[in-house]
Amino acid sequence: MQPVTTTDHTRSLTAESRNETVELLTKALQLGIDFKLQSDVFLERIPSVQARDRLISALPVHPGKVEDALVEFAESMLPLCKNEASPQFLGFGDTGDDVGALVGGVLALLTQQNLINQSFDSPSATFVEITALRWLRELIGFANPPVEDLTTVFDVGGIITHGGTMSNSLAMMLAREHKMPGTMETGVHDPGQFSIVVPRDLGHYSVKSALKWIGLGHQVIEVDTDGFRYDLRALERALREHEGRIMSVVAYAGDSRTQTVDDLRGVRDVVRTADERIWLHADACWGLMCSFSDRLRGKLAGIEDYDSVTVDPHKVMAIPHSLGALLVRDPASLKAISSHSGLIMGDDFDFGQVTPFIGTKAWLSLKLWMMMRTRGRSGLAELAESRVEKALRFAELVDSHERLIRLHKVDMTAVTFMYVPADVDVAAPDIERINEANLRIHERMLADGRWHLHHFGLPDDDGILKYGVTLYPMRFMAVNPHIEEHHMTAVLDYILRLGAAFDEGSL
Ligand SMILES: Cc1ncc(COP(=O)(O)O)c(C=O)c1O
Repeated sequence: MQPVTTTDHTRSLTAESRNETVELLTKALQLGIDFKLQSDVFLERIPSVQARDRLISALPVHPGKVEDALVEFAESMLPLCKNEASPQFLGFGDTGDDVGALVGGVLALLTQQNLINQSFDSPSATFVEITALRWLRELIGFANPPVEDLTTVFDVGGIITHGGTMSNSLAMMLAREHKMPGTMETGVHDPGQFSIVVPRDLGHYSVKSALKWIGLGHQVIEVDTDGFRYDLRALERALREHEGRIMSVVAYAGDSRTQTVDDLRGVRDVVRTADERIWLHADACWGLMCSFSDRLRGKLAGIEDYDSVTVDPHKVMAIPHSLGALLVRDPASLKAISSHSGLIMGDDFDFGQVTPFIGTKAWLSLKLWMMMRTRGRSGLAELAESRVEKALRFAELVDSHERLIRLHKVDMTAVTFMYVPADVDVAAPDIERINEANLRIHERMLADGRWHLHHFGLPDDDGILKYGVTLYPMRFMAVNPHIEEHHMTAVLDYILRLGAAFDEGSL
């Protein structure tokens, strides 16, 4: 056998390639930062098939230079990327541009800690993750044990995940084990016993899919809503009707469309009165934001009594993807879904024991720790309050236009609204024509590529146009820190111009 003689200095990080690597990483950082600072959402828009043909290529036969790959990235991929940090991007969640979180993300990449195991793989990272989880628990109102009583991962009361979908899925596993302890071992015998209750048309798909992923099938009971929140009397009726076969009720601290917060106390009282054994889960992917501020926290009153709460820092904390968490009121409840392997998860603080579906896990929580460490309580409060103020201002602007109509009360950062064509009488609205106008406006907006608002189907739950019909509005989200007053007025002017074109038949 040939002796091993050389290290490949061009492709591995070594003392010799250190400076060159720093230079390359600096170039990469500059590219990424300039991308985030570009004012456009997209530099180039092409049909999916063209993107496919441009980007899918064969594996190169010979080695190439990283510089060349960087050039290819900058020229052919980056222009097609969506820049959520553009002030014209008013469409969804966060822009991921908290500087502390970006620094944490880079360091997590370079330190290569693996949160599956504490003593060997992440001796310090595990305790940073625990710290971040304790900070989140405190914000939600869950009690933390004193540090000296933290002896295993089952005392922590939370898990860092890749996002809301994973957190909700784990919550459904917890609900399943709570309903029928030992199902992890015995398997599911009678799926009909594991139903969940969700608000009709408003529940996020993740809990429904989770039931299928964990072997329970479609066991979903949809309950009517009023003003985008559970109708508590309808909830009471459903609990009576399906008595004994409900494993969980899922409430929303901010639904995916209007971000309306359920009456969490009311839901809790109805559920606990009906059946104390039902697992109460709150999806606070968006609602976490309210916990940052004394002025907004009241919206979440009651959440501290829920058995589990999903939070999604990558939606509301300016943290780059991906990072979610599941918090549980009783830390020991995580034992019900734990796994053990002497090979890698044999130590008391190994998070791998309580993260079903996840083996190796990066140090995602460093981004969160950096963000919270550097913003502090007052910085978090300011972030939440300024966003809500922006949303309220946008709502005011919508309300001031005769041809625009707002579909809900602003609870957090979402404002959902529609253009009403000039020939429509809102007292006897032609819903089809209103929907068509908004569909056309949104299509044109996407094709122009300058502004971005979200567009989806929504029941008219407040009866603004006609109670119960499905509307296809646009939605503004006030989570982008770069949005200023002039962006809000400009996007509305743009929509009104497109609306006028629709009225004239030229859109
Ligand atoms: C209410 C709610 N729950 C869960 C999710 C899923 O979160 P993620 O995309 O982080 O998995 C979303 C995503 O928009 C959401 O709005």
